[in-house]
Amino acid sequence: MSADTIKQIEFLSRALKAPRIRDAASRLADQARDAGWSHEEYLAAVLDREVAARDASGAQLRIRAAGFPSRKTLDDFIFDHQPALKRDQIIHLGGGLFLEQARNIVLLGPPGTGKTHLAIGLGIKAAHAGHRVLFGTAVEWVARLQDAHHRGRLAEEIVRLRRYGLIIVDEVGYIPFEQDAANLFFQLVSSRYEHASLILTSNLPFARWGDVFGDQVVAAAMIDRIVHHADVISLKGASYRLKDSGITTLPSARPENTAE
Ligand SMILES: Nc1ncnc2c1ncn2[C@@H]1O[C@H](COP(=O)(O)OP(=O)(O)OP(=O)(O)O)[C@@H](O)[C@H]1O
Ligand SMILES: [Mg+2]
Repeated sequence: MSADTIKQIEFLSRALKAPRIRDAASRLADQARDAGWSHEEYLAAVLDREVAARDASGAQLRIRAAGFPSRKTLDDFIFDHQPALKRDQIIHLGGGLFLEQARNIVLLGPPGTGKTHLAIGLGIKAAHAGHRVLFGTAVEWVARLQDAHHRGRLAEEIVRLRRYGLIIVDEVGYIPFEQDAANLFFQLVSSRYEHASLILTSNLPFARWGDVFGDQVVAAAMIDRIVHHADVISLKGASYRLKDSGITTLPSARPENTAE
């Protein structure tokens, strides 16, 4: 390539805000000449480098912005430890079709059975697939909605949240809410119903959610919307955290207290 052409490519790729085109252009030019690529093949290869790099950095940005408490992937999940769980179902969900269909996922089960791990793993997959994701515990979500409500901006906040393809609500059930939380939460769920996805995790079966939200009627209407288009997945067994500790039961793992 002549020096002028290289300069021109440099200038044009800066103008396009696509700096990797400049690097790829000269690197791939030699390869193209050696391998006898057509002009179209060369152009496609250069553009492909730019798009791949953008996708990867976009995914990293979305993962950082999601606010995950830790990085957990579906690949790290040991399915043998959760024999009741259908591996195929999780792999299928990881494909992200549920996001296109605005379906929800509910992960139920006692402490340490992998609910948060799976929720984060699915969230990371969603971020890679180009979806904006936000993670929070139920307590954090309620605080956020309460704050918007007090500022008189609840409606705007709920509309803004619709721009996220996936909202993850972790730990529904560990801490009971004040009364107005049920109404706030209901508005979030109902605004996303058939528009955008939610992943919820809970240690409690749906029958106990009324107690958590302090309002049986609102909880019932909320659950109705959540499960209408949803995969409800029950995790079972002893906590993974205690796996090597020799402890076999926890007080909160009694059947009447769990989602089983
Ligand atoms: N099947 C598994 N394979 C690999 N790691 C697992 C598995 N299950 C749980 N873990 C790990 O064990 C720890 C606890 O799991 P996690 O936080 O997902 O539990 P949880 O169901 O959300 O529990 P809690 O209800 O107490 O929040 C995490 O570090 C998680 O990565
Ligand atoms: Mg958890």
